[in-house]
Amino acid sequence: MLLFLTSTLLSAVRLALGASCSCSATSIPIHVDALVPKDPTDMFAGLKSNASSLRRVDATYDIYGVFCQPEGVSSDTVQILVHGITYTSQYWSPPVEEFRNYSYAAFACTRGLPSLAIDSLGVGLSTRPANASDVQFPTASQAVSRLARHLKTTSILPGVRAFKNVVGIGHSAGSATLNFGAISEGRDSPFDALVLTGLLSVAPGALPAVNSLGVPAADVEPLRWAGLDPNYITVTDRSFFYPPNTNSFSPRMLKFDNFTKDVGMTGIFAQAPVTSLGNQFTGPVVEIVGSEDQLFCVGTRCADVPTLIASERVLWPDAKSFDVVVVDGSGHDLNLDFFALKAFDTFVGFVQQFTSGT
Ligand SMILES: *[C@@H]1O[C@H](CO)[C@@H](O)[C@H](O)[C@H]1NC(C)=O
Ligand SMILES: *[C@@H]1O[C@H](CO)[C@@H](O)[C@H](O)[C@H]1NC(C)=O
Ligand SMILES: *[C@@H]1O[C@H](CO)[C@@H](O)[C@H](O)[C@H]1NC(C)=O
Ligand SMILES: *[C@@H]1O[C@H](CO)[C@@H](O)[C@H](O)[C@H]1NC(C)=O
Repeated sequence: MLLFLTSTLLSAVRLALGASCSCSATSIPIHVDALVPKDPTDMFAGLKSNASSLRRVDATYDIYGVFCQPEGVSSDTVQILVHGITYTSQYWSPPVEEFRNYSYAAFACTRGLPSLAIDSLGVGLSTRPANASDVQFPTASQAVSRLARHLKTTSILPGVRAFKNVVGIGHSAGSATLNFGAISEGRDSPFDALVLTGLLSVAPGALPAVNSLGVPAADVEPLRWAGLDPNYITVTDRSFFYPPNTNSFSPRMLKFDNFTKDVGMTGIFAQAPVTSLGNQFTGPVVEIVGSEDQLFCVGTRCADVPTLIASERVLWPDAKSFDVVVVDGSGHDLNLDFFALKAFDTFVGFVQQFTSGT
């Protein structure tokens, strides 16, 4: 009895401090039925293709996710967090003590915002189709959108009710996955708002070719990946995900990142230029990049923010609001360097602004 009272008191105290969060892992079966280009290197992911160059993928996949929520506080809003290529849900909460300062899931949770950080289709603990070419933007994006609809209609865990608002927060290819959904679903998108980090639109030919960045995962770490379709790739040199100035991040983070890397797919890499197509998404949108992003802020692209906003905004003509923020000092992986807390504050600020009064 005494024990019970004490723990109740303790949790009340933790709540008062706003620091108490609970997280649970879950796996949700999602049915996907989508047309993908027969050629996974089609840079527009089939959106400009005729029927004869498309094929159907019709399958049910398990999508793994870590759901975190503030204890005792209910929220109408949930954030779906979608990592980038060669990462997993762990990108949003790297589990080494020093990296406590790098957990967006914890940062948002202590500010009252629940999140579901997923492993994308084909990655981590989500289903990995035998054929990597079954994972392209049309299938990966549909899985995320159907998950968003699921969160709006169904309780995903005991005691967690369906949510009214779902905000999509992506990083890099995860942002491109959400962007693809905005293009393919437009005003029918289940997302109420999008926070796209580590991504700007990609002109055809603007990013380095797949084979200069990615190598077949089976060749890199046979112990983990022998026998995988060679279109499952990974990245061994991860330094270009960080700012060029090595004082901007912990060398231990880079090592941890290298040892916990996962796979990506040739198709997802090759289809990045699909982000140069416009869309009819109607919710509010922000793109957030690091000033030191070695993939997207090359040259002077991010130096003149008003010009950058003007050029990106034309792709989102129906968005309720549109903005681009360049976080000073951050690299491509905004969550993993010493500027992470500043980036997180920016993400949370937009989520709160986008969902206030709804
Ligand atoms: C369909 O697209 C393919 C590949 O781009 C092309 O070779 C073929 O001629 C097209 N077929 C029709 C009927 O337009
Ligand atoms: C983590 O953040 C706290 C402030 O929230 C700071 O005092 C501490 O030095 C940070 N730790 C590291 C390793 O950066
Ligand atoms: C993946 O599926 C496509 C379309 O059916 C096929 O052309 C390709 O050979 C398959 N790849 C592997 C590795 O099975
Ligand atoms: C990254 O990990 C690979 C093993 O996958 C290892 O061979 C390589 O030395 C590591 N690189 C760094 C910079 O830690």
